[in-house]
Amino acid sequence: MIVVRTVADLRAALRDRRTGTIGFVPTMGALHEGHVSLLRAARGGNDTLVLSIFVNPTQFDEQSDLAAYPRTEAADLAVAEGAGVDVVFAPDAAEMYPRGFSTVVSVSGPVAETLEGAQRGRAHFDGVATVVCKLLLSVLPDSAYFGAKDAQQVAVVRRLVADLSIPVRVVVCPTSRDDDGLARSSRNARLAPDERARAIAIPRALSAVTDAAAAGVTDTAALRAEARAVLAGAGVEPEYVALVDPVSFEPVVVREGPVLVAIAARVGRTRLIDNVVLEPVRQPAHSGRPADSAHEGGA
Ligand code: PAF
Repeated sequence: MIVVRTVADLRAALRDRRTGTIGFVPTMGALHEGHVSLLRAARGGNDTLVLSIFVNPTQFDEQSDLAAYPRTEAADLAVAEGAGVDVVFAPDAAEMYPRGFSTVVSVSGPVAETLEGAQRGRAHFDGVATVVCKLLLSVLPDSAYFGAKDAQQVAVVRRLVADLSIPVRVVVCPTSRDDDGLARSSRNARLAPDERARAIAIPRALSAVTDAAAAGVTDTAALRAEARAVLAGAGVEPEYVALVDPVSFEPVVVREGPVLVAIAARVGRTRLIDNVVLEPVRQPAHSGRPADSAHEGGA
């Protein structure tokens, strides 16, 4: 495994490897089991595995969050080695944003402006889109791997890859969860034991919505109320409980196609997000519509 710090060294390291496939896992470090599941998927499907570690300052809306973000490079490199990474790209901010840097890649519309975009501000997804674009153009991988937990990030990345004709396959891996259901996140380390116990209400609320949907509830207001009741029972006040189209992020009123149920909540000082996708409602056989019409994209 080699570690490179500049785009020029990255390109040199990959020059002779382009005859085979390159898989890429972009991260901000503080690697946990969730990242390892992405690395495993990418390792299995490619000849060369590239990992990037860069805590991207432009996507943080709160300076305190940026300052508190864990930086654990030595441990991350050990994890990367164990996961079979070939090349680690770990640039500093001056390499990614040199003097005079003036370009912003900005995805517009509900996909970037609602939910996380509304709560964290426009700059968040502008920061994500710009750095992901730059990372993809630096690595030029065949496939890039993202976690389904960040469903809106996935949708924004899919949009920018399609709109800018970036020749990369976006692969979305299932959310990695602890045994009690909590979605793995670098931020979980900040939860005090009592906060962690309350945070479980988030996956429980998503399970309650999934169960209600399986029982035939199609009205999204009723499904949202189901989730809010579970959260309220644990004293968790959500920033949002949203039921939206998983590709466009337009709100869904009556469930028919696939629906993304997304929750964001602060537990103590820690902001957590999680989501689940409800499968399309089965149509009666005579409706003329395929019962399981596949929905491209999804999170
Ligand atoms: O998901 C993340 O860790 C980051 O948003 C990403 C994709 C590495 C861009 O900084």
